[in-house]
Amino acid sequence: MKYGVLNQDVLWQELIVTKEDRKKLKGHNPAVIWLTGFSGAGKTTLSKEIERRMYEMGIHTYLLDGDNVRRGLNSDLGFSKPERKENIRRISEVANLFVDAGIVVICAFISPYEEDRSYLKSLLNEDELYTVYVKCPIDVCMERDPKGLYRKALKGEIKGFTGIDAPYEEPESPDIVVETHKYGIEECADLVIDYLKKNGLFNSTPVN
Ligand code: ADX
Repeated sequence: MKYGVLNQDVLWQELIVTKEDRKKLKGHNPAVIWLTGFSGAGKTTLSKEIERRMYEMGIHTYLLDGDNVRRGLNSDLGFSKPERKENIRRISEVANLFVDAGIVVICAFISPYEEDRSYLKSLLNEDELYTVYVKCPIDVCMERDPKGLYRKALKGEIKGFTGIDAPYEEPESPDIVVETHKYGIEECADLVIDYLKKNGLFNSTPVN
């Protein structure tokens, strides 16, 4: 079976309660905040802090994180290029459902391929997706090595590790770039939240 191929006999069903209704109920717009970057760049730490702040602002959120999703929904997938594509495709579909449910969903995945990241763009409206490039030089990530995986990859115990023997394509036009080797997590979270505020994501009267 090939993943991601649509069966034309399956038809989309319109719901009675719409995304617009859910926006009014929640009092803010839904969106995906997509964090991409190397393992160890700080995606998980930053996404947790972003979610904590939004929670305090009364925003309805959910956080999808690479390691967690790979322990459940995507536990059948490895790290080859096609499996990473399927990983990101499924997550994009889940994120799209969360947006339909009126949620601000924060996604933290290496998502190393531009083509895979662009799939979500095709599902959402333009103002529903914010890409955050969590930028950190590979040598700093290797130095941090919070899970000991770079050490294993360098010894050849893990094959196809991003930044070692698998590629990472920098995002072409991210909305926000945070440099975690230069700034602390608080400053990086400030940058993201300020950008989202300026773009009207938290407006109590939905903007669209
Ligand atoms: S992605 O490339 O498919 O987007 P994802 O974000 O889901 O990756 O998972 C990355 C996490 O899996 C890393 O943070 C790391 O803990 C773990 N991991 C295990 N093997 C690899 C590998 N070969 N390359 C990258 N990450 C790996």
